[in-house]
Amino acid sequence: MQVKRIAVLISGGGSNLQAIIDATESGEIKAEIVGVIASKASAYGLVRASSHGISTFVIGKQTFPDLKVRTDKLNEILTSLEVDLVVLAGYLSILQPSTIKAYEGRIVNIHPSLIPKYCGEGFYGHHVHEAVLANGEVVSGATTHFVDEGVDTGKIIYQESVPVIEGDTVQSLSQRVLEIEHKLIVKTVKHLCEESL
Ligand code: GRF
Repeated sequence: MQVKRIAVLISGGGSNLQAIIDATESGEIKAEIVGVIASKASAYGLVRASSHGISTFVIGKQTFPDLKVRTDKLNEILTSLEVDLVVLAGYLSILQPSTIKAYEGRIVNIHPSLIPKYCGEGFYGHHVHEAVLANGEVVSGATTHFVDEGVDTGKIIYQESVPVIEGDTVQSLSQRVLEIEHKLIVKTVKHLCEESL
């Protein structure tokens, strides 16, 4: 089986990226991360990628202020890398239709809630956990899903829940959810690369 070529898109710390890096290096995921694309130069995930010899790119408002130019550049890089699978791992920009069409059914995202709860516009990062706590939820969790032209609306792939514990803070809940994210993103990418989904 041809080794799948993965591009990982990030905006922040890259702990989900790190989970994928570790799984490809251990052989758990039969694929190669051929590029990491960050929406901003300050994303620590770029450091993680570089330290593992993975090509990195910054495509964001600071580097390409014009949306069309930015979109064309992203599409150009994905094409040049001959990517089979696009993984959004803490990526806070919205992909444009041309990118989604080019990789229909081959773009996945990890979201830190049990979709359809706490997703869509404005529900990212700590905003998700704040809302979960404010609403007194007793469970939360993470979801992987295919990316379509909506925000967090694509077909769900995997979900796993975690308890919300009395006295939880955004920090303690997000940490518990993040551990599940790492597990789910690896499971999702592994199965997509084995085409067993
Ligand atoms: C995580 O909560 C992820 O679900 C969300 O972005 C946050 C940062 O993830 N999409 P990472 O540490 O940058 O992978």
